[in-house]
Amino acid sequence: MLNLATLTSVLVATGALAHTTPPRYNQTTDQEIESQIAFKDGECTVEPLGGARDDGPALLRAFETCANNSVINLPGPLYTVEKVLDTELHNVVINLEGIMQYTPNIEYWSPASIYLEYQNATTAWKLSGANITLQSLTRKGGIDGSGQTWWDAYAVEKARGGRGVAGGSSRLFARPIPLAVADAYDVRVDGLSITNAPFWHMFTYQVEKVEFSNMFVKSISSSNASAANTDGWDTYRSNNVIIRDSVIINGDDCVSFKPNSSNILVENLYCDGSHGISVGSLGQYYGETDIVENIYSRNVTLINTEHGARIKVFPGHNNTDSVEGGGIGRVRNVTWEDLTLESVDKPIFVTSCYNYDENPQWCEDHPSELVISDIKFFNLKGYASGNYPNNTVGSLRCSGDCAGFVAQDIDIGLYENRTQGQYVCTNLVNPRLDFTCIDVPFNGENQLSDLEP
Ligand SMILES: *[C@@H]1O[C@H](CO)[C@@H](O)[C@H](O)[C@H]1NC(C)=O
Ligand SMILES: *[C@@H]1O[C@H](CO)[C@@H](O)[C@H](O)[C@H]1NC(C)=O
Ligand SMILES: *[C@@H]1O[C@H](CO)[C@@H](O)[C@H](O)[C@H]1NC(C)=O
Ligand SMILES: *[C@@H]1O[C@H](CO)[C@@H](O)[C@H](O)[C@H]1NC(C)=O
Ligand SMILES: *[C@@H]1O[C@H](CO)[C@@H](O)[C@H](O)[C@H]1NC(C)=O
Ligand SMILES: *[C@@H]1O[C@H](CO)[C@@H](O)[C@H](O)[C@H]1NC(C)=O
Ligand SMILES: *[C@@H]1O[C@H](CO)[C@@H](O)[C@H](O)[C@H]1NC(C)=O
Ligand SMILES: *[C@@H]1O[C@H](CO)[C@@H](O)[C@H](O)[C@H]1NC(C)=O
Ligand SMILES: *[C@@H]1O[C@H](CO)[C@@H](O)[C@H](O)[C@H]1NC(C)=O
Ligand SMILES: *[C@@H]1O[C@H](CO)[C@@H](O)[C@H](O)[C@H]1NC(C)=O
Ligand SMILES: *[C@@H]1O[C@H](CO)[C@@H](O)[C@H](O)[C@H]1NC(C)=O
Repeated sequence: MLNLATLTSVLVATGALAHTTPPRYNQTTDQEIESQIAFKDGECTVEPLGGARDDGPALLRAFETCANNSVINLPGPLYTVEKVLDTELHNVVINLEGIMQYTPNIEYWSPASIYLEYQNATTAWKLSGANITLQSLTRKGGIDGSGQTWWDAYAVEKARGGRGVAGGSSRLFARPIPLAVADAYDVRVDGLSITNAPFWHMFTYQVEKVEFSNMFVKSISSSNASAANTDGWDTYRSNNVIIRDSVIINGDDCVSFKPNSSNILVENLYCDGSHGISVGSLGQYYGETDIVENIYSRNVTLINTEHGARIKVFPGHNNTDSVEGGGIGRVRNVTWEDLTLESVDKPIFVTSCYNYDENPQWCEDHPSELVISDIKFFNLKGYASGNYPNNTVGSLRCSGDCAGFVAQDIDIGLYENRTQGQYVCTNLVNPRLDFTCIDVPFNGENQLSDLEP
């Protein structure tokens, strides 16, 4: 059984941690913490200690002192943070004008980060409460998650077949999300940069009425280890969320709607290198009800991405302990409108037999029990990279119930010269598509190469 200590020694032995564990500094004294915080007119202002010493205790103290009906000023320029921030605020404005840089200390963060009960996700900062504004008026504030150390360590652990890294995070090697808005109501986040995320950049978890605007999100690895699982945003058990006017440069989903996401507006995004605007995966756990509905994404530019508009749903399963399908629920009323696509591998991609590429017979025999309906693609323009086999630019393949698919004003070619691509469909009921979609059963004899134009 691999525990954290042995994992850490493995990482040190392989060199993954050797140059990154920060030097040990003296504990911040209570006196120092007090000296960092100015309390005036009901506002808390925190000055950094400097010298790469931990500002976490002072930040926490300010979040406690000014937790209600208050303002917290974080002028920066740089806060070094090696303390999990579990904050509950009411009627508070946080002016984050400096960078909060989390230390790359895996030994500290991995066990200490706050567990969020979805795919073992954990966070370094759980922002909870009600009526909170977290903003950078100067656009210079934000969070640096020191992700490189985490991506390198993750690659090493994955390459040696390490345990606990499947599916992204795990409780053995938890990579904290820099900012989780969680158990919260009425939160605005505006004008921040979130960079170098060990895992997803942002997560809305059990929230209602949250808006992100003018965000700059970036995670690019400088080594050969990929910036794995660095989704821009994931939403889970979230209602009434807006994500707008932002730039995302990363290596996984730009925005991903996880189970029980509803009434979400995504607009005016520029997504570079990501996996697209994605519903799911859903239906992974036997008997669990997953609902994603009323999702509207408009005016999104997707460049060099793996997907454009995507829905991924697991098929059915006959094992009541299944964690690979068998969930129930629905995906309803999801719209993508005005997408600009440049060099996208799979511009339109819907599957309700996710994760069973190697076993098409399974899809026939175990139809998904999630109902997918009222799915709209309006005005999608641009070109696919040609990296998807058989000249495919769109794939809409259902193992279960899929009705009410509409596609209008779709103009997607292959390569910059816009060679005509093909669309494949499986089991759509009465679709209204303005492109020709070739019917391809999961286990049919008619394989795609025979059908190429
Ligand atoms: C830690 O504290 C000791 C004694 O107070 C002092 O001599 C030393 O310089 C301090 N080290 C750092 C890195 O601040
Ligand atoms: C803030 O309000 C909560 C309840 O709403 C209360 O428990 C907490 O003590 C308050 N904190 C401060 C510093 O007043
Ligand atoms: C939200 O908090 C601000 C102070 O940050 C306050 O002025 C406003 O009245 C609060 N709104 C509600 C609905 O409580
Ligand atoms: C969560 O962590 C447990 C224990 O490490 C592991 O067995 C499980 O596969 C992880 N789940 C995911 C989705 O990574
Ligand atoms: C990445 O580079 C390291 C050393 O530079 C090498 O040991 C490792 O095999 C490389 N990994 C991959 C996946 O290329
Ligand atoms: C679309 O989004 C871009 C930012 O990516 C913005 O500059 C532009 O004004 C938006 N257009 C419309 C019509 O909203
Ligand atoms: C989603 O919502 C439904 C209906 O309220 C509920 O039964 C189900 O447990 C929820 N699923 C998750 C993953 O929270
Ligand atoms: C579909 O979703 C959109 C946007 O989220 C919403 O405005 C509309 O009312 C929904 N339509 C139905 C039939 O629920
Ligand atoms: C589940 O389905 C698989 C594949 O169809 C079959 O081999 C297996 O016997 C089934 N198991 C049960 C418990 O029905
Ligand atoms: C279009 O571009 C692709 C990739 O560069 C090339 O293979 C193909 O021959 C081009 N087709 C035409 C008609 O120019
Ligand atoms: C492409 O066509 C080949 C040969 O017919 C087929 O085996 C394969 O499944 C197709 N690939 C995809 C991604 O559809």
